[in-house]
Amino acid sequence: MAHDPLRVPAKDLLPMEAEIEHRRLADEVAEHDRRYHQEDAPTISDAEYDALRRRLDEIEAAFPHLRARVTQAVGAAPSGKFAKVRHSVPMLSLGNVFSVEEAEEFVARVRRFLDWPADRELAITAEPKIDGLSLSLRYENRRLVSAATRGDGAEGEDVTANVRAVLASTGIPDVLPADAPTIAEVRGEIYLSHADFQAINARQAEIGGKIFANPRNAAAGSLRQIDPKVTASRPLRFFAYAWGEMGTMPSMTQTGMVEAFARWGFPVNPLMKRCADVAALIEHYRLIERERPIIGYDIDGVVYKVDDLALQGRLGFVARAPRWAVAHKFAAEKAITRLNAIDIQVGRTGALTPVAKLEPITVGGVVVSNATLHNPDEIARLDVRVGDFVVVQRAGDVIPQVVEVVQDRPRGVEPYAFPTICPCPLKTPVIREETSSGAEGAVRRCSGEFACPHQRMEHLRHFVSRRAFDIEGLGEKQIAFFFECPVEALRIREPADIFTLEARNDAQNLQKIENFEGFGKTSVSNLFAAINARRTIALERFIFALGIRHVGETTAKLLARAAGEWPAFEAMARRIAADETEAIAELQAIDQIGPSVTEALGEFFGRTDAVAMVDRLVAQLVILPAEKPRGESPVTGKTVVFTGSLERMTRDEAKARAESLGAKVAGSVSKKTDLVVAGPGAGSKLDKATELGVKVISEDEWLALIAPAAGPDTAGG
Ligand code: IVH
Repeated sequence: MAHDPLRVPAKDLLPMEAEIEHRRLADEVAEHDRRYHQEDAPTISDAEYDALRRRLDEIEAAFPHLRARVTQAVGAAPSGKFAKVRHSVPMLSLGNVFSVEEAEEFVARVRRFLDWPADRELAITAEPKIDGLSLSLRYENRRLVSAATRGDGAEGEDVTANVRAVLASTGIPDVLPADAPTIAEVRGEIYLSHADFQAINARQAEIGGKIFANPRNAAAGSLRQIDPKVTASRPLRFFAYAWGEMGTMPSMTQTGMVEAFARWGFPVNPLMKRCADVAALIEHYRLIERERPIIGYDIDGVVYKVDDLALQGRLGFVARAPRWAVAHKFAAEKAITRLNAIDIQVGRTGALTPVAKLEPITVGGVVVSNATLHNPDEIARLDVRVGDFVVVQRAGDVIPQVVEVVQDRPRGVEPYAFPTICPCPLKTPVIREETSSGAEGAVRRCSGEFACPHQRMEHLRHFVSRRAFDIEGLGEKQIAFFFECPVEALRIREPADIFTLEARNDAQNLQKIENFEGFGKTSVSNLFAAINARRTIALERFIFALGIRHVGETTAKLLARAAGEWPAFEAMARRIAADETEAIAELQAIDQIGPSVTEALGEFFGRTDAVAMVDRLVAQLVILPAEKPRGESPVTGKTVVFTGSLERMTRDEAKARAESLGAKVAGSVSKKTDLVVAGPGAGSKLDKATELGVKVISEDEWLALIAPAAGPDTAGG
């Protein structure tokens, strides 16, 4: 992909193209960094990653103002409750128009108001309307002194500490250059990219935290955290597009102001354009509308603003919206359809998720027949009933959602009662579980555990998934087939059954798998080869594959490290199940392992069915011991960051080696970093290290440092 002959050399890109490609690449790189460093699950090769990075570097070299804003800062002390801030100039809202005709009418109105002749140019800017939350940043003597949310427009909340925690990811400058006025209030929008939003929700799901409905909510929730450290972990972004108090005006046009913001170091939207007439305005609206699906963050319209600030002054305001600006909203990606049924899906851990079965309808170009209803509380909040007409929306362009019930409800529609018994054949009672604080949680669960076929099936799906056993040719479809295989003796009902399948297929007097439709002799022998290849498995993968609640990949790795070998892990888990305080305390002493994990482990290993299932599985496998950190190594307990290209080893290798020596490998440089290993081409991480006074060494120095400890006998040691 880096060698795509059709690709324009970075230096020949138009500034807008460069901005767009840069943003996309930065998102991609950030996502791969996350997969690599936080989940230990890279999904692309080093070469592919390097190609992405190289292109990013090329673009940044040609357009230095684009320097990636991917690293994140570590937050300051907690702020406590938010204080109120009075805006020196009110933060206004915008009027809306919903069609081209209304947009044209807006311009006509402005012209009439100003008595502007039809043949005289009236420049108007057009830019995306970001679906985030607005923020006002106050600089005094060119230093950031406060940051406030919009609030009611007159008074907002003081989020200065949180904004300080995300200066790096947002690109909000802490200090303005010398030519900026002594008092400057810069305003704009805080938002999250789609990729970061999804990553946050994935992480939230893993830790059992709140799932955000859309990027806007996630951005708001992230900014309004009591603990700035939490905010710091969320890669918020920012675009500057407006201002409040301004000591001296750097320009007397809208475009000039935004250009000044860009010079001062603020990120500004590359899709902003100055249009000389209505036709150009509408043309740009169409362009932004076309870009919308690939822009990487939520926008809900285009904002038009009269470019000349003197004219803005003349136009003034009506109520709380300016007469000189308007939001041209996109046709909402919403549709009305009938709710035919509410299905209850049973997840791997038994969580019951209500799913709206809809009369199929096109929403924003995609046919939707299912939408999530989240949980019973959401059903109650909406008072949604089977037979209702509902408004369906594609939130963040991804998961369709039922947002409201259309008022006039058809006759005879009954309130929905969430099942009190599981929809599975077992008909077990549904339990409403308590959260760790003892409050009633929103989630209902099937109490059937492994006896429940739905949970079993989901459990098997997880078991064979890519980050778990990853058996080629045994995906969801095949699992579903073998789960209900017409020949009972060939069914797969639990993980151990996968590994006995071949022997069972070879048994006498049986219909063979190769005779079923969709299978052939070759595919069956390939399948068995793939299964056999997985009989030997790394301990951390194995632990992850067990599908214990709250034990995601990262946690599985920590657990594997702590135990070393499967028998030790099992013994530890059983002690926890037996409520041995010492074992619990020992495990919780590990950084990042808390009560939810020990509770879940104890619960899992306290169940006879689960333990028996694990025993049957273990009998089929060889579980490799975790690579144990060496007790004595110069880097034990140290946090190391690799940056730039390494010439004597791949990044994966360097990381594995460092970890096997007891070092922690981090993806970004912070005050906690002990050592940065920098190869050629090291960029922002190296700068950061220098800035923070973190020790930097070369790859050769690194190899020399670890040489005494890292021998060929390291593995398994
Ligand atoms: S200009 C005086 N420009 O939309 C006008 N607002 O509905 C100040 N918004 O509260 C706002 N993108 O949070 C402006 N490019 C943009 C915007 C934008 C998003 C939000 C902003 C504002 C709301 C008004």
